[in-house]
Amino acid sequence: MKADRAVTAAWEARERAYAPYSGFRVGAAVETAEGKIYPGCNVENASFGLTLCAERAAIVAAVAAGATSFVRLVVATDRDPPTPPCGACRQVMAEFGLDAVVDGVGPESSRKWQVRELLPDAFTKDQMA
Ligand code: THU
Repeated sequence: MKADRAVTAAWEARERAYAPYSGFRVGAAVETAEGKIYPGCNVENASFGLTLCAERAAIVAAVAAGATSFVRLVVATDRDPPTPPCGACRQVMAEFGLDAVVDGVGPESSRKWQVRELLPDAFTKDQMA
């Protein structure tokens, strides 16, 4: 995939991954409709279950900056084919829009999904209305 701003931000965030236990470094970047970019990386913990994935870190950074809807989320790892996001991250993505595109990028290849396809029949705020 062409290295646009969000792809570059995800690769740069991957450099900042804190992954001393798994060694699996992940970078992510949220892109809003206005073209704003919010990066995130995975942050592990000695209490392994507290690990935060890069996707959720990017989403949390976007929300903290005031952006609550996004059109795209780029996820960068060193794997080809690129790895898909975990289930917990899919649910958090769904909170902020089922139409967003998720671009997985690796060194040699890319994959594209839509949030609604990653999490079919999602439980969202609409169901509580
Ligand atoms: N990880 C992510 O950051 N995103 C994913 O989509 C999958 C997994 C992280 C969590 C942990 O730090 C490491 O990758 C191995 O699971």
